[in-house]
Amino acid sequence: MERIVTNEKLTTDSFEKTIRPSCIDEYIGQTEVKENLNIFMQAAKIREEALDHVLLYGPPGLGKTTLAYIIANEMNSNIKTTSGPAIEKTGDLAAVLSSLEPNDVLFIDEIHRIPRFIEEILYSAMEDFTLDIIVGNDSSSRNIKIDLPPFTLVGATTRAGDLTGPLRDRFGIISKLNYYTKEELTAIVKRTSQVLESPITDEAALELAMRSRGTPRICNRLFKRVRDFALVEGKNIIDLDITKKALERLKVDSLGLDDTDYNLLRSIIEKFNGGPVGIDALASSIGEEQSTIEDVYEPFLLQNGFLKRTSRGRVVTEKGYHHLKVEYYNK
Ligand SMILES: Nc1ncnc2c1ncn2[C@@H]1O[C@H](COP(=O)(O)OP(=O)(O)O)[C@@H](O)[C@H]1O
Ligand SMILES: [Mg+2]
Repeated sequence: MERIVTNEKLTTDSFEKTIRPSCIDEYIGQTEVKENLNIFMQAAKIREEALDHVLLYGPPGLGKTTLAYIIANEMNSNIKTTSGPAIEKTGDLAAVLSSLEPNDVLFIDEIHRIPRFIEEILYSAMEDFTLDIIVGNDSSSRNIKIDLPPFTLVGATTRAGDLTGPLRDRFGIISKLNYYTKEELTAIVKRTSQVLESPITDEAALELAMRSRGTPRICNRLFKRVRDFALVEGKNIIDLDITKKALERLKVDSLGLDDTDYNLLRSIIEKFNGGPVGIDALASSIGEEQSTIEDVYEPFLLQNGFLKRTSRGRVVTEKGYHHLKVEYYNK
């Protein structure tokens, strides 16, 4: 079965593209981020300059890529995209940078994964719009400098903490995206319902919103699945009844926890006596990648107080025990 909660690398499908808002007024929530960006974008337009470099960070599925495209759109700029893992050699980054045209937006997804020795090239590119590289081999190497046009780098990362200081310092605008409220997610579900022309009742939209872990990508995915259930049952509107039924089948619980969350919490309780347990031991015990646990699952479990991070590892909280209906005893 297609997983609802995923790492963002796996996920840019055509469905997401169809429902992705393309201008800032369609982008729901993240009010502060939007308001600030709007001001900086207006100012840049008045000055006829490229927008300052923007760093967007936060858990997967909260709208970083969407916002990067919106910025380009609002600035009437072209966007070029690449990602940290795609940049393996100095030449990869040099090629991208030297292809830029004036006022382009360069979007680098998972920017924390650019190898350190390559990252340095970004410093002068961002600061002085020059490409400063060493060509040739050890015996006859020389520095060359190439002027670049003014451009805006938009970097996205799930891990702001993994960015080096020098790189972070070169972003003029740093915005953190937060989990969405249920009202915002309800609005997103309704928007998706309109775009896809499949109607949904208010209470069903709210139900989806509450089970989406504060994440637009998840509420859209759930919408898609629930829509299938409604279709097969011959309903022309998605109602609460079919929504609950579908979510039960998908094993998404009342708070949006899925199989993997249960697996993770249960494994800590059963195999590690509730913790603390190190991330590597936990990862191998449930057969997930460490980075998937850290980037995708853990933030939501931490934020909701089911899990705690201590210096000695992860611990399931009393609230976590209760949610799993396992008796808690004070250790
Ligand atoms: N603020 C928003 N308003 C409406 N839809 C959104 C918003 N943020 C994200 N989405 C939807 O969620 C999906 C995932 O967003 P994306 O930008 O790919 O997340 P990220 O890059 O942070 O992982 C998009 O396809 C988009 O439709
Ligand atoms: Mg993305």
